[in-house]
Amino acid sequence: MINMTDSIYGEYKEALEYVMDKLNKKFEKMEEEEYSKEGEHLYEHLISRLKEEDSMREKCERKGLPVTTYSAVHELHDAVGIRIVTSFREDIYEIIKRIRRFEDCQIIEEKDYIRKAKDNGYRSYHMILRCKAPYKDPDGNCPGYFFVEIQLRTIAMDSWASLEHKMRYKKDVNNQKLIEQELKRCADELASCDVSMQTIRGLIKESDE
Ligand code: GTP
Ligand code: MG
Repeated sequence: MINMTDSIYGEYKEALEYVMDKLNKKFEKMEEEEYSKEGEHLYEHLISRLKEEDSMREKCERKGLPVTTYSAVHELHDAVGIRIVTSFREDIYEIIKRIRRFEDCQIIEEKDYIRKAKDNGYRSYHMILRCKAPYKDPDGNCPGYFFVEIQLRTIAMDSWASLEHKMRYKKDVNNQKLIEQELKRCADELASCDVSMQTIRGLIKESDE
């Protein structure tokens, strides 16, 4: 059991921050180059975070893992999280294409909740990357390998996820079923708007040519 005053990330905290920073810079460079070349943004914004200590401890417990540095850094794969929010749906797949070409990162898991939304309506594209860094990892490799969760969403998907997340705290309501149906309906309507917006963008591009 680790001492509650120590970081659950132990000696790997610096390596995790390094990987997060390196990927952030990579995405920012990608976006700047795209904008100067095409005059259009590849994404709207990006946020990254190292999972809060308490939330990581709670997650270890929830997953039936010992609350240790090894679990946090190596068994779970979302200590480092990066969320990329795009204007259009097709931009997500363009960014994914580019992530596949990253030299120091291997994609070990992908979930396309866009083509196949979750039952509640949640949409997003999730990837787990395993990235090389000039630090020792918990298996003793040096350079080591650290995991990063990437979530890619449009602005519409992101706003739904954010509102749904806020309302999830209030679960014990009597009209639960209706609320779930309405949330799902909103998610589907937003998804249909995303498709329309992309079509409009295509029409504008066509008439520009
Ligand atoms: P966990 O890692 O325990 O969450 O399980 P998992 O790996 O099966 O989850 P998944 O990859 O499906 O989702 C991980 C993350 O996606 C969550 O931590 C949330 O940030 C986000 N997410 C997934 N489902 C939902 C949802 O229904 N609503 C919202 N708002 N966010 C979701
Ligand atoms: Mg997960």
